[in-house]
Amino acid sequence: MTVREIQDEILRLKKEKDIYILAHAYQKQSVLEIADAVGDSYGLSVHASQCSHQGVLMCGVRFMAETCKILCPDKKVWLANPMAGCPMAQQLDLEGLKKLKALYPGFTVVAYINTTALLKTGCDVCVTSASAEKICRALDSDHILFIPDPNLGHYVAQKIPEKTFAFYDGGCPRHKVATKDHVLKARSLHPNALLLVHPECIPQVTELADYVGSTTGIMDYAKKSTAREFVIGTENSIVEHLQFAHPDKKFYPLSSELTCMDMQLTTLMDIYNCLKGNGGEEIQLPENVIEKAGACIRRMIQLGG
Ligand code: 13P
Ligand code: SF4
Repeated sequence: MTVREIQDEILRLKKEKDIYILAHAYQKQSVLEIADAVGDSYGLSVHASQCSHQGVLMCGVRFMAETCKILCPDKKVWLANPMAGCPMAQQLDLEGLKKLKALYPGFTVVAYINTTALLKTGCDVCVTSASAEKICRALDSDHILFIPDPNLGHYVAQKIPEKTFAFYDGGCPRHKVATKDHVLKARSLHPNALLLVHPECIPQVTELADYVGSTTGIMDYAKKSTAREFVIGTENSIVEHLQFAHPDKKFYPLSSELTCMDMQLTTLMDIYNCLKGNGGEEIQLPENVIEKAGACIRRMIQLGG
């Protein structure tokens, strides 16, 4: 089968089976083309919470499929490729969180959505990169324990100096590879380009950027900007997506190493096989996890607006 034939078959099957396909913006171009909705983690959560289809198929990583299941507990939810996880989401478990909370009594626990469903049961509210600042500001607590990404946490904390933040020493192993040297090299190679980066990058990178934001934030900024050239400091698929969307502009990767192997695992054949009932993984979560983690995620959507 050709790529186009598989895509056509996927479009036919999802309609026949009333399945809504969600794709994170880091997915391959061929996957984005067959999705019903594409977005960053925040946007995907909102789409999942509003979806009226019988089933949802997530093209992304495990915590995103878990979030869908939590928001649509009565629907069947599948992860297209069961091996696609987020290494950051595995950095902290409930036992580790318990120890951390003991060090910071009275702190409100703010969990980046890139965490397991089980870990969310020990947290007060979730945030995504697009909503973290707004939600941390809106919380009535002045003391915030931000887990597991200290880079996003520090980025938010410096915007809200009136609040006290504590962090966990985790972080995205992919975004962490981007360094100040990469920025200096990109600036010398592309002196007219704006630097747009994700807040999972280290502070030495974000402080040199022209714009810091979520995946969708970066894409919107590049679309609206009158600049012609951009260096992109997030997963490298975004460089290609932006180039497709804006052929009259130029996009360059900040680092060739900014590739998330987990996000790139999902193929059209995974989606096709999942729709045929021969692949993917149906997400199952205990009721108490759905309930407790759901409270955290719904609070995020409520405060995130
Ligand atoms: P977004 O919040 O931009 O979707 O980021 C998700 C992610 O996994 C970034 O590495
Ligand atoms: Fe997780 Fe980083 Fe990959 Fe995003 S880019 S899914 S945070 S490992």
